[in-house]
Amino acid sequence: AIQRTFSIIKPDATKRNLTGAINAKIEAAGLRIIAQKRIRMTREQAETFYGVHRERPFFGELVEFMISEPVVVQVLEGENAIAKYREVMGATDPDEAADGTIRKDFALSKGENSVHGSDAPETAAEEIAYFFAGLDLVG
Ligand code: CMP
Repeated sequence: AIQRTFSIIKPDATKRNLTGAINAKIEAAGLRIIAQKRIRMTREQAETFYGVHRERPFFGELVEFMISEPVVVQVLEGENAIAKYREVMGATDPDEAADGTIRKDFALSKGENSVHGSDAPETAAEEIAYFFAGLDLVG
């Protein structure tokens, strides 16, 4: 079925001017970028967005990283978009990511891993609604 997923191009990638290169991989996979904006995430947004990781040892580092440089938040649409984007991203750890994936080609480490993608339909809907109004999505 046609799905939507939420994506973030993270600070390590925007800093190295990789937004276009990442978007090219997204589009080559058949996913359509139906909304996109470059923002500087606030600390509050980062802490709320990553709230499920609040108790993890890397939470503080993750929040500092996400607010360190601008990010690009996006909504991607396509057949089976959630799983497809996770495939295009590759494993969280770039050392474990498959050839040709975004993280294999661009990520620096498990933390500075260039992109985020939703893991399930419920989280995709929540994450999209956190950053975009319905009228911003142009399918
Ligand atoms: P993301 O998909 O955005 O969701 C949670 C993030 O936590 C994950 O990508 C990584 O960037 C980050 N993360 C996961 N494991 C670690 C780790 N061991 N050290 C630092 N950051 C991590």
